[in-house]
Amino acid sequence: MEPYAEVVASYTTFAEEAADSPCFVEWSRGVADDPEAQDLIRTLPPVKQQPNLVFAAARWHGAPAPGPYAGLRATLLERWDEVRATALARSTQTNEVGRLATLLPAFALLGERLHLIEVGASAGLCLHPDAYRHEWVQYDDPAVTHHVGEGPVLTCRVSGPVPFPERMPEVVSRAGVDLNPLDVTDADEMAWLKNLVWPEQDERRTRLATAIEVARQDPPRLTRGDLFDELPGLLGAAPDDAVTVVFHSAVIAYLEEPDRRRFAQLMAGLVAEGRCHWVSNEAPNVLPEVTATGPAPTKPGFVLGIDGDSVALTHGHGATLRWHHTHP
Ligand SMILES: C[S@@+](CC[C@H](N)C(=O)[O-])C[C@H]1O[C@@H](n2cnc3c(N)ncnc32)[C@H](O)[C@@H]1O
Repeated sequence: MEPYAEVVASYTTFAEEAADSPCFVEWSRGVADDPEAQDLIRTLPPVKQQPNLVFAAARWHGAPAPGPYAGLRATLLERWDEVRATALARSTQTNEVGRLATLLPAFALLGERLHLIEVGASAGLCLHPDAYRHEWVQYDDPAVTHHVGEGPVLTCRVSGPVPFPERMPEVVSRAGVDLNPLDVTDADEMAWLKNLVWPEQDERRTRLATAIEVARQDPPRLTRGDLFDELPGLLGAAPDDAVTVVFHSAVIAYLEEPDRRRFAQLMAGLVAEGRCHWVSNEAPNVLPEVTATGPAPTKPGFVLGIDGDSVALTHGHGATLRWHHTHP
């Protein structure tokens, strides 16, 4: 059996990216060396061949994780029809509230009374920044801390002139849009969301379980649809007595290249018209027009932007915030 070059390439790359999960590193290398597994995976549409999705689907059908490649292999070979159906039916929609500790200083700069609109909201867990105690710990001196809010704790290590909020902004209303909004009251959908957390990341799993409980107390209003189609309606319904902030995190990478540019232009136009503020938190190559306004990132992670200006570099799950922008 011949190796399938595209699967080999994407799983080899993922083995380098998945350093946070020794299990996924082993699994990726295993698939990259296993023409029999590749022959199954190649039957999926290209967008569904991604390691994160195939691994999640295999875990859903019993592949023990963390565990050796042999466990994944057995699940792929013995239960392929079920794994394939799950990969086709579901997608990777990881919803990470840890990011809120990096987003909140940006939100708070924009106003004291906010209407939040999240595009690509997944289950909408990030629409509740005000339900957490945010703790920021100085990089060079962990004894120096700042905090705001009450509730489950989100901790973030920081550097630079972070504009720490003195008080929690009031979120007067919240709304979101997603191609496939997940329902926090639906046990099956929340089990899938938990299944997307990488095997060794117990802290993230615990945080997610807490975030689901938080959101269940006030389930967010989520619209099903494409962000380009639904954003105008959501903006039209925004209250007059609050500052409207459109935000997104780990979403625009899902758009094709021309649509990424279209989205950046749309948001720049809305900001210029005074229709809303724009908080973006995306990988550096996704919105290069934002990235170019700040220092070049030297580590993996996201660029945090306010109204199109790079203000900070953030860890992908919110563990760190390196602020570089000086505000008047
Ligand atoms: C990785 S998740 C991020 C979720 C959340 N923003 C967070 O930071 O935790 C990306 C989400 O974007 C959604 N998405 C991707 N393309 C979209 C589009 N064109 N319109 C609306 N939602 C989209 C996906 O369905 C998915 O739920």
